[in-house]
This record gives sequence, structure tokens and C-alpha cells, in this order.
Amino acid sequence: MNRNIVLIGFMGAGKSTAGKMLAEKLEKRFVETDELVEKKVGKYIKKIFEEDGETQFRELEIEIIKEVAEMNNAVISCGGGVVMNTINVERLRKKGVIFLLNASPESILRRTSEDHKRPLLGSSNPLALLKNRMPFYRSAADFIIDTTELAVNEVVTAVMRRYHEYHCQRE
Ligand code: S3P
Repeated sequence: MNRNIVLIGFMGAGKSTAGKMLAEKLEKRFVETDELVEKKVGKYIKKIFEEDGETQFRELEIEIIKEVAEMNNAVISCGGGVVMNTINVERLRKKGVIFLLNASPESILRRTSEDHKRPLLGSSNPLALLKNRMPFYRSAADFIIDTTELAVNEVVTAVMRRYHEYHCQRE
């Protein structure tokens, strides 16, 4: 049971909060790709977007994914755009089980409406972005968890159940 748990999904899907709790419960290491990108360049994501542009951010993200995809026994919370580069998904899949944390567009809008830290929420239409990304999220996911009506601990329980099932099917 040391495959990585990889959390993907749109901004505001609750990947970080659920990921931290999952890591604690399953005694795995928790890593967040956004945080690792920020550490690598010593700048907040917002600043990277402003000063270097999204393309540069995506390059950095690819480098970080390459590193975290090699870990064992980790919970990896991915930035919302990670799935847009297929190389990221291929790498993460090798040692990981991929969970899409999904929520209704309304609840995503609600959760992100006061957000000023995420550059893509300021500049584009979040609903259009979500619609555009949905096929990528779905095709990357081994499991999809709808978090719309769930509290964090219920999301965690749902992920853990499927993670166990995944292992049972393979043993
Ligand atoms: C992004 C999501 C953000 C962060 C960056 C771009 C995206 O991560 O990587 O602002 O393209 O959806 P979260 O999903 O953790 O907010």
C-alpha cells in the first residue's frame, strides 16, 4: 500500500485540505506541487505568473511533477492545471493512483469567489475554464469523488475506501 495518492481537480476542489488529512491518516508524506514550485523559485505563484508568465510556470510545474512522481508513499496535491500537460499525468500514474476531486460548478464558484491569490481566477472566466478542463480531469482520473455535498472528513473516507479497493483488486 505504498502507491502515491495523487489528487487532481479544479481550484477550490479541496485538494490541499483533504490531502493533508489523508497523509496524516495513512502516515504518508504530504506534498503540494504549488508549494514546491514556489520554493524552487522563491516567489509566490501569483508573482511567477505576473513576472514570468504562465508558460514559465508550466515548465516549472513539469519539473516538479517529474520529481514528486518518483516518490513513494506520498499524497501529492496537484495544481489545477497539472492535467493539461499529458506528460505530467503519465509520470504521476506510474507510481500513483489518481483521484479527481470534483464539485459542481456552483460550489466551485462559491469556494473561489473571494480568492485573490490564484492568478487564473482574476483573468479568465472560471466556468469556461472548468468546462474546457473537464475532459482532461476525467481522462486522467482512476477515481472520481464528487465533493459537492461532502465535508472534508467524508472526502477523505471516500478516497481511502477506493484506495483500498484499488489495492485489493491488484493483490
Ligand atoms: C492553477 C491552479 C493553482 C495553481 C495556479 C494555476 C490552474 O493551483 O497551480 O494558480 O491552472 O488551475 P490550485 O488548484 O491548487 O489552486
